[in-house]
Amino acid sequence: MYRTHTNGELRLSHKGEMVTLAGWVQRVRELGGMTFVDLRDRYGLTQLVFSDDMDAALNEQVNKLGREFVIQAKGEVLERSSKNDQMPTGEIEIKVNELTLLNAAELPPFLIENETDGGEEIRMKYRYLDLRRPVMAQALMLRAKLIKAVREYLDNLDFVEVETPNLIKSTPEGARDFLVPSRLQKGSFYALPQSPQILKQLLMVGGMDRYYQIVKCYRDEDFRGDRQPEFTQIDCEMAFVEQEDVLSTFEGMVKHAFKKTIEVDLPDFVRMTYADAMKYYGNDKPDLRFDCKIVDLNEACSGTEFNVFNSALTDGKLIAGIVGKGMATYSRKQIDQLTDFVKEPHRGAGGMIYLKFNEDGSHKSSIDKFLTEEKVAELKAASGAETGDMLLIIVDKESVARKCLGDLRLELAKREDWIDPKAWSVFWVIDFPLFIEDEDTGEFTFAHHPFCSPHQEDLQYWDTEPLKVRAQTYDLIMNGNELCSGSIRIHDKEMQEKVFNSLGLSAEERDAKFGFMLNAFKYGAPPHGGLALGVDRWVMLMVGGTSIRDVIAFPKSTGGRDLMMDAPAQVPQASLEELGVKVVEV
Ligand code: AMO
Repeated sequence: MYRTHTNGELRLSHKGEMVTLAGWVQRVRELGGMTFVDLRDRYGLTQLVFSDDMDAALNEQVNKLGREFVIQAKGEVLERSSKNDQMPTGEIEIKVNELTLLNAAELPPFLIENETDGGEEIRMKYRYLDLRRPVMAQALMLRAKLIKAVREYLDNLDFVEVETPNLIKSTPEGARDFLVPSRLQKGSFYALPQSPQILKQLLMVGGMDRYYQIVKCYRDEDFRGDRQPEFTQIDCEMAFVEQEDVLSTFEGMVKHAFKKTIEVDLPDFVRMTYADAMKYYGNDKPDLRFDCKIVDLNEACSGTEFNVFNSALTDGKLIAGIVGKGMATYSRKQIDQLTDFVKEPHRGAGGMIYLKFNEDGSHKSSIDKFLTEEKVAELKAASGAETGDMLLIIVDKESVARKCLGDLRLELAKREDWIDPKAWSVFWVIDFPLFIEDEDTGEFTFAHHPFCSPHQEDLQYWDTEPLKVRAQTYDLIMNGNELCSGSIRIHDKEMQEKVFNSLGLSAEERDAKFGFMLNAFKYGAPPHGGLALGVDRWVMLMVGGTSIRDVIAFPKSTGGRDLMMDAPAQVPQASLEELGVKVVEV
């Protein structure tokens, strides 16, 4: 037997027992003739102690120990004279009388502790060492616990876990496909699934009724902290349901998983329409852990001598603002930083107007000369600002003004520490538009994917104002992140064809890409709907992280590389020829 206990297990109640431990040497310290070794495994750390009266052979072994050596140690559990209340095993230590070296180790390229000196690249290259750090191990364990809780909930509700293939035809989710060349049909390619979307809908046609799968998805898209080219979804679908059934089933699942995984009781989830999210937060995934809504000020800004307001009012632009609580003390420099923030090219505001309501009752604004006392009072009342606050105003095209204020709201929360790190904001955003228009090309594309069912009452706008047609779609938002998306699907062949037509797909394209699906819809597709949750994002939020890379065992770097395996890699010419693939120099 290699060990009787793990390194996270022993307590004062084990005092006097003879135990055998195994693990990695985290540190070796010599103090007053004694040698202390911190022994690590994924369960924790235990202190080993070698007294100065140990025999010569043992002494020789101890002298050889280095960081990350793998050892086995036998000895007695003693009560420590100086206890460490920072570690669960901090009341005991093991007085070792037998030591076995199981494997030596080269000096690791970075410190294998939570506070490491290793940058992300080197940690990814030596990921197997990085995974020995307690924070990493804990993230993977939490991930497993979350998935276990999800399975438990869904299995109880009679969902069936079905595996769908990875070598398929394109399932569109708005990203590029990863393609796999076929050796047997040269010149043809499989696509890796961006999601099992079409397949799960076909499982509903196949009568499976309630499906789920913890599944890898592949999307060749640009990198961000919350995106990886391969990631994991909890993918679900239900037949004979309306939106309400789906929302309540998965609200239950998320609550169950929170309770089981991190012992948090979430309150009932609010439902906010997409229109309200954009109006009040300038964003379809607002963080509601703090208040600070966007207020429309067109009416309050009429009747001034200020040209920017007046031309905005005649040109149909938006004048809107947010209130910075207690920020009347902001200096010129701090305000300039906020102005630069909204003017960054990807936000595109032309500028920002401020109005401070000072504690002494006075006010100060960038447009003082255009504001009468009455106007200031009107703006204060309309924005809900109080003495000591600062009102920040943007005048622009509605989409620009709302986006800038939405971003500014998040920036203020960061600067002013408005977010309680222990708080959770989990709620549904519903009723997204069915189509969105590409601002550059004017072309229509689907807002979610092309299989979402429109709201019946909006079909009247289809031909005249298609952007007004709302879909039966829903996102679950967690602390300002999109955790999950889903919809009630189209199950009617004609309606599905109508959507493809509106997206500009010719009949040939449609049949080539989705003919098999439209064909299936001829044979009695039940009403159905579902959703998919991003596991990586969920775990990232639960561990309070900012990058999903930290909760994936072997993630890709920002350049899409596996730095440990060194993938993607070139392949021998013969393999390419076998696949009928010719590489052209670019
Ligand atoms: P969607 O594309 O919104 O919906 O994806 C669902 C959830 O998956 C996660 N996610 C990602 N996580 C990490 N890296 C990525 N590149 C990435 N892309 C998406 C997000 C997201 O909310 N088939 C539909 C679902 C449905 O309608 O049932 C779908 O895939 O957390």
